[in-house]
Amino acid sequence: MVPGEGPKLWTCGLPEAWHKGVQGGLALSPGLRYFRHRSLSMAPYHIRKYQESDRKWVVRLLSQGMAEHIPATFWQLLKLPRTLILLLGGPLALLLVSGSWLLALMFSLSLLPALWFLAKKPWMDYVDTVLRTDMSDITKSYLSEPDSCFWVAESEEKVVGMVGALPVDDPTLKEKRLQLFHLSVDSEHRCQGIAKALIRTVLQFARDQDCSAVVLDTSNIQLTALSLYQSMGFQKTGQSFSCMWARLVAHITIHFIYRLPSSQAGGL
Ligand SMILES: CC(C)(COP(=O)(O)OP(=O)(O)OC[C@H]1O[C@@H](n2cnc3c(N)ncnc32)[C@H](O)[C@@H]1OP(=O)(O)O)[C@@H](O)C(=O)NCCC(=O)NCCS
Repeated sequence: MVPGEGPKLWTCGLPEAWHKGVQGGLALSPGLRYFRHRSLSMAPYHIRKYQESDRKWVVRLLSQGMAEHIPATFWQLLKLPRTLILLLGGPLALLLVSGSWLLALMFSLSLLPALWFLAKKPWMDYVDTVLRTDMSDITKSYLSEPDSCFWVAESEEKVVGMVGALPVDDPTLKEKRLQLFHLSVDSEHRCQGIAKALIRTVLQFARDQDCSAVVLDTSNIQLTALSLYQSMGFQKTGQSFSCMWARLVAHITIHFIYRLPSSQAGGL
């Protein structure tokens, strides 16, 4: 959790290393890989390091990527037994007490925008928090040390994907790990393998850094991301609730790990 910033949420999380304050000057990342992808129906893209001129694209990717989970969060909220009880039981109780169908109907209808607000708020709060913390200065947070990096996928002079990586700052760990953050691909450029290429970039970078594993957090709402990570060999290590609110709406943070083969074992 960010001190004074409210609960940490369940997307790709807030980097712990950011809280420790990533300092220093810009360093070139040794693990940078350059991917090209071409097909008849898809525009080519390449992956490169983040530059300050990418900021507006990256902020848009973050905001849009998170906002698109609001409807799924809303439906999940609606399907919870406690919500159904409130939606059906509340009006029924009002009807019995007041005898007014109108009052009961109005109560029912007023709950829907309240639920939408509940579904929307955490995602928006997450974006606000991220933009005030690690992504307030991406160059400083991700590109000032050789063991972290932030990449973008560029297609036709537009940034259409992004991902960041920071070392896991846990003194109890006996191995070096990297954490993947803020994976997002523009909705018009999905299903072209861009996310996979971005993840492979992180995995290769981690390997170049002699890391033993790459970890990340996602959530039960982010079904595409879940399927993507699993298809790439990430393994679930556990799940948790990031805060009381998440528990209330059954919003589960899912933790993944990708164990890197040793450098002798061949490519990724
Ligand atoms: C998750 C996300 C990054 C995937 O981006 P993408 O570029 O479309 O992903 P790719 O084209 O590389 O797809 C790779 C794999 O993801 C899975 N996948 C992609 N789109 C999918 C979909 N619509 N439904 C189910 N699985 C899907 C598949 O396993 C796919 O592998 P395959 O093509 O071999 O079947 C993108 O949907 C996104 O930006 N979502 C919003 C932000 C977000 O939730 N980020 C995750 C943060 S933890």
